Amino acid sequence: MNLANKIREIQDFPKEGINFKDITTLLKDKEAFKYMVDALSEQLKGLDVDIVAGPESRGFLVGAPVAYKIGAGFVPVRKPNKLPGETLRHEYELEYGMDALEIHKDAIKPGQKVAIVDDLLATGGTMLATAKLIEALGGEVVSMNFLIELVFLNGRNKLEPYNIKTLIAYDE
Ligand code: PRP
Ligand code: MG
Repeated sequence: MNLANKIREIQDFPKEGINFKDITTLLKDKEAFKYMVDALSEQLKGLDVDIVAGPESRGFLVGAPVAYKIGAGFVPVRKPNKLPGETLRHEYELEYGMDALEIHKDAIKPGQKVAIVDDLLATGGTMLATAKLIEALGGEVVSMNFLIELVFLNGRNKLEPYNIKTLIAYDE
């Protein structure tokens, strides 16, 4: 299965100069969707993951089915003021702008092993913010898994020394 072929590229979205990787074309393809979930789940084998965390919103689409597949729980990490309970907040820089993410304070128990799953590694800001929230709650980030990596943005450098795995790399 060539997953990259299932991703649609849209030029100049959401603004000029950005070549947007549209995963909706992959998600609606039943073979490709299954292949993606299986491949990401395979990367988590042997890590004894308790919780998969996914950053809003595309991290929900990718992370929740992986959690189901590996028999882990799922924790949503959300954009501000969406979670109803007591939250922790972390501000971060993203590919185009600033944002913040929140997690429920009781979402992770100290010592739980957490894999963070998202669709895209760009600058790494979203993933790093998510990791900081999990660690602030005492969770151990055992893996960071992405469908897509934009290699030219060097997000990996920001995420050292975490255990990072990606399925598709784009060099431009
Ligand atoms: C996108 C993408 C990743 C993040 C990657 O999310 O889904 O989460 O950007 O960029 P980074 O590595 O530079 O942080 P976005 O914040 O656009 O929101 P969405 O998932 O709700 O579409
Ligand atoms: Mg996202």
